[in-house]
Amino acid sequence: MSTAAINPKGPRVYAPGNTPSAWAGTYLTSTVGQKILVGLTGILLVGFLVFHMIGNLKVLPGFEEPSEKAKAHAAERAVEKWKSEPELQQRYRVMDDYKSAFVAERARAFEAQEHLNAYAAFLKHNLGALIWIARGGLLLLFVTHLVVAIRLRLKAGEARPVGYVTQRTAQASVAAKTMLWTGVVILLFTVFHLAHYTAGWIKPAQTPNGPVHYLDLKDPDGRHDAYSMVIAGFTTPWVSVLYIVTQAILLVHLSHGIQSSLQTLGLVGKRFTPAAKLLGWGIASTIFFGNLVIVMSVWLGWAKPVL
Ligand code: HEM
Repeated sequence: MSTAAINPKGPRVYAPGNTPSAWAGTYLTSTVGQKILVGLTGILLVGFLVFHMIGNLKVLPGFEEPSEKAKAHAAERAVEKWKSEPELQQRYRVMDDYKSAFVAERARAFEAQEHLNAYAAFLKHNLGALIWIARGGLLLLFVTHLVVAIRLRLKAGEARPVGYVTQRTAQASVAAKTMLWTGVVILLFTVFHLAHYTAGWIKPAQTPNGPVHYLDLKDPDGRHDAYSMVIAGFTTPWVSVLYIVTQAILLVHLSHGIQSSLQTLGLVGKRFTPAAKLLGWGIASTIFFGNLVIVMSVWLGWAKPVL
């Protein structure tokens, strides 16, 4: 079949310098194109943060009656503990007394362990190659967001090499003025966070059998014990303080970043600007409080250890 039969005007002819790749090149180096790129990658990263927070909230105990499996795992652990800890044998002369007390107090924690570890195992093993595509995509989003945002900032600086005599940004919020610095803190936090939980380099978990590397922790079903890793991570006070402080900085970054991205993507005008601001604050505070609850639940003893 000839091309004319498919497209009566014949194949599209591009003028020199007017090809799709040339258009993309021009668009992506323009300030508007770069702002859209920062906004879009920012919104997608926020999507990751919401997904990540919902997954991690599984560390909290539920209100429902724990399953028989969770109770059985708690009973097994109680026996192990009673046999290996002489103080427990002194406090509870009869092993069954300790076993029932432990099951009553901890079965919900074993249920939460089951939920979090099943979810972590699903992400790591059941998704197959998809997890690597997702990780690569996340890294690409992160790097693009960072590099393009810094380039835009430098461009704005070049356009105005001499600072304003009177600060024209006086009306801008503290969040808007500190986007670059809060962004740098989030980058540093992410590096620390990967060293902490993905590589387990910061500190081993304390178990009745001595210190164990985070990645070697196993649950009763032989899966990686992400639950005990999260609990161990937040039992170190300085680590918890670091997480809480950086979550507050993330709140400041997102409170401005989300509304600014939505406005760049077209949510502007009398009705839409307040909606973008409200959405920005709403989503940023949800992520902040969700992550705060995870750290505090370990401190306050809501999320209990199972080791
Ligand atoms: C209290 C808050 C948080 C908790 C409890 C938490 C917990 C975790 C855990 C346990 C892992 C390892 C998962 C595994 O390998 O099994 C992880 C990975 C990760 N976290 Fe977080 N996280 C929190 C906040 C954040 C924030 C604010 C960011 C981004 C700024 C973030 C970015 C990441 C990334 C990029 C990974 C690696 C994902 C992967 O390897 O596929 N996390 N997090």
